[in-house]
Order: sequence, then C-alpha cells, then structure tokens
Amino acid sequence: MASEADTVRIFDTTLRDGEQSPGIALNAQEKIEIARQLDRLGVDIIEAGFAISSPGERDGIRAVSRAVDCVVASLARTNEEDIDAAIESLSDAKSPRIHTFIATSDIHMEHKLRMTRADVIAATDFAVSKAKGFCSDVEFSCEDATRTDIEFMAQVVRTAIAAGATTINIPDTVGYTVPEEYVEILTALRERVPEIDGVTLSVHCHNDLGLAVANSMAGVAAGARQVECTINGIGERAGNASLEEIVMLLRTRKPRFGIDTQIVTNEIMRTSRLVSRLSGYPVQPNKAIVGKNAFAHEAGIHQHGVLAHRRTYEIMDAESVGLAGSDIVLGKHSGRHALRQAFADLGFTIEGEDLRRAFDRFKELADRKGKITSLDLEAIASDSLREREDPYQLVSLAIATRTGAPAQAEVTVRNGFGERTESAEGDGPVDAAFTAITRLLEVPVALAEYTIGAVTGGADALGEVRVVVEADGRTFAGQAVSTDITEASAEAYLRACAHAKLAIEADQDKELIEV
Ligand code: KIV
Ligand code: ZN
Repeated sequence: MASEADTVRIFDTTLRDGEQSPGIALNAQEKIEIARQLDRLGVDIIEAGFAISSPGERDGIRAVSRAVDCVVASLARTNEEDIDAAIESLSDAKSPRIHTFIATSDIHMEHKLRMTRADVIAATDFAVSKAKGFCSDVEFSCEDATRTDIEFMAQVVRTAIAAGATTINIPDTVGYTVPEEYVEILTALRERVPEIDGVTLSVHCHNDLGLAVANSMAGVAAGARQVECTINGIGERAGNASLEEIVMLLRTRKPRFGIDTQIVTNEIMRTSRLVSRLSGYPVQPNKAIVGKNAFAHEAGIHQHGVLAHRRTYEIMDAESVGLAGSDIVLGKHSGRHALRQAFADLGFTIEGEDLRRAFDRFKELADRKGKITSLDLEAIASDSLREREDPYQLVSLAIATRTGAPAQAEVTVRNGFGERTESAEGDGPVDAAFTAITRLLEVPVALAEYTIGAVTGGADALGEVRVVVEADGRTFAGQAVSTDITEASAEAYLRACAHAKLAIEADQDKELIEV
C-alpha cells in the first residue's frame, strides 16, 4: 500500500456538487445508500451536502454522518448562519469537517458578492476561526481560484491557514484552466505561501472544456494531495472530475507517477451503477472506465489481438474495476431470508416493509426469468429505497388498447390523504397513463425526456425507465424498474411529477412567508 507521502486523498462530492446537477433530488435513504457504498469504495472524505440550503439537506448530512466511518464534510459559505448550519448538520459525525468557501476572483467579488478584497479576507478569517471552534478539520476553498489574481489569492490562503485551515482547495470552478496553467498557478501559490506545505493542498475541477481529469492530474503533479471528484463525473453544468478516471489513471500509471489512492477499485462499477440509478443520470456507453463499451472490443483486429495477448489492447483488467460479469445469486424457489442476505451481500440494508415489497418484486421477476442476477437485485433494491419515501404511490394501472382507437388508461394513486382515480386517452398506453397522472397530481409539467433500458440482456429482462419533466423553468427526474414497461413508465412519471409538485408547493409556501 502507498505511504502517506505518495497517497492522494479522494474527496467525493457526489452528494453535494454532484447532486447540484439539474433534475437530481436524492431522498435521505438514497443518500445513505450512496454514502455507504462510497465508504466501501474507500473514499477518504464524503462531502454530504450544503447544510444551509434546507432542513431536509441538514437531515441528509446528519443521516450520512451516522451511516459511515470516514470523514464527512459539510459545505458552508463564510457567514455565521452557514457555519452554524454546517455545525448542526455534523453533530453526529465521527470525523467531521467543515468546508467553507468564498469567491476570490474580481468578477465574482464585484458582481456576485459585492465585497471588497478586504471584506473577503475578513470573512475568510471569521469563517475558518468559527469552524475551528467546532472541529479541528477545516477546509477552505477560494471559489473561482483559476481566475483570481495570484497575489490576492496568496493573501487569502495565508489568512485561512493562520486561522486554522488544514486543507486548502484551489478550485477551477468554471472549468476554465488548462493543465500547464493550473500547474503554474499552484506552483506560484506554493512559492508565495510556504505554509501550504504544512497543510493538504486540494484540487477541484469542473469539466466545461473537458479537462477536469487532466487538470486534476496536473494538480497532483504540482503537489496536491487531495482530489475532489464525483462518481461518473456528475455535477454542475458539464460536471466535475470523475472519480473513477482519476483513480484508475493513478493506479494504471503508478510506475510513472508513484502516487496512489486508498480506493478499492473493484467496487467502482457497483458504485457507478448505484449513482446512475439513484441520480437518474445514465452513463454514456463510451465513458472511460464505467461505460458499457469501456472494455468491449468490436473491431476484428482488436479481438484477435486480445485473444492472442490481452495486453495488446487492454491497459486495465475489467475485473479490477469490478466488471466481473453478473453472477446468478437466487432462483425462483429462494425465500425472503435468502433475498435479505443477498441484498446484504451486495451492501443494501433492506428490512421490514421494504423487504416485503422487494420480495414481491423479486417473485414476479423470478417467475418470469427463473434466475436472478446481482444486477437484477441491485435494480430491485434501488427501487425499494425510492418507494419508501414516495409521497404518491401507484395503486393500480389498467390499460386498454384496440387497433385504430386511442389507448385508454385508468390510474389510481394514493398519498397521505387517500386514493384518487383518473382515466385518460392517449397516443398509446404510455401517453394515456401520463395524461391521467398529470390530471391526478394537477401539476403543470411538460415531458422533456423519456428513456427505456433493460437491466440485463434478454426479452425477459427487468425494464428500467427514466423520465424528466419540466415545470416552472426547472427539471425533475423520476426512475423506476418493472417487468412491465408501461408500469415502470407510469411509476417513473409519477415520481418526476411528485418531485415537481412538492418543489412548486415549497416555493409557494416560501413566498407566503416572505409576504
Ligand atoms: O466549484 C467550486 O468552486 C465549488 C466550491 C464550493 C469548492 O464547488
Ligand atoms: Zn464545484
């Protein structure tokens, strides 16, 4: 194993910067499951959220803190309320970290913060000192660092270290820099602030120009020993640096760089699938490391080479990232106890009512397919976690189709107040079901995306649907799996509409309070 000096810490911000991607809204249980999997993956720090943003966000950070053993970070701007919210959210963390940030570029200070340089220095000192009163582990970030005047940034960083910051993060917030330039910035900063050598230097890169991983790697070469990244590279706009790419780059090219991470790489695929499923963000087939085609060889000449000697065209083993194929875990005679154990082996804690629902799903699928694989179980487990916190449940869906006539759907949904039924016609069963659901929820949405996939190959596979709707200028996503694709579509659409309805109602409540 690599020693402290040649190890890079992996700071995962899937649950914070990743969750800021449009349409992602993870419930507390989903956050806990992702956090547990990140812990198994071996990340050093999990950034669990931005505490001030809502009471629900604080509850989510607290729940994650209880569920994992690694360091849990909570993000805060430099004002008192933000730091207090972060402190509150970390009350149960075994190893808490407050991550405080303020913009340091002229453009942000002038137009966004409307603060002078002196104000920013004072805010940095205040925030880091206050955070330090709660925990010893404090990270400070200069937002938009790569467009910041270097002399001023040196002053801010010196202030943060003097106030007690133990990690200094230099983010490329808008994905603007290039590798050579990033090295120059970090080198210039280290020259001006030799105290940096006594703390951890961190990099955090966005992918607007497709350089997030290359820039992060340049940062490591320039002395950074923490990399901030997300699973599948999800995040604001074009996303963040992707964890799996950085980790496998350092592992595969270790002879060249001599630097490694503590990541358990054969947990990568499972983590990627879980995040993709719960966030509703599909992974592009040609995505490095975790894309469906990342280890496939199509061209005859490549296949021939790989058969003759795997290393001709393969620089990594598929097994090293956990792509060992989908083993059969259960059959149609397996009972509830075996299912619970199989979930536990995959890292999911499914009990009580969730287990009962998951077992019904499992039986339905097993009757159809006979053999159930770990991929099927992962999909069923994720869906049970979603279902647990669904504000609306699909009680029944009846579809009637006849050649030459519009399809008819009758949908019944339940919420905390009772059940309601609506019927509608449409251009096919899915359209009819969507129209009935829109009427039931009385929410003004427009369908923006509708994707159907299959969890495993074969005609009897579990179908997986993702729906994105637009409402009030924002997007809301819903996902579902079922052996019946119309039912999965209705369930996914109901989830997306429910997210939209709750968000619109929360905004209206806020307006009433403000009035
Ligand atoms: O991109 C960024 O600058 C951030 C900071 C909060 C670290 O996400
Ligand atoms: Zn960011």
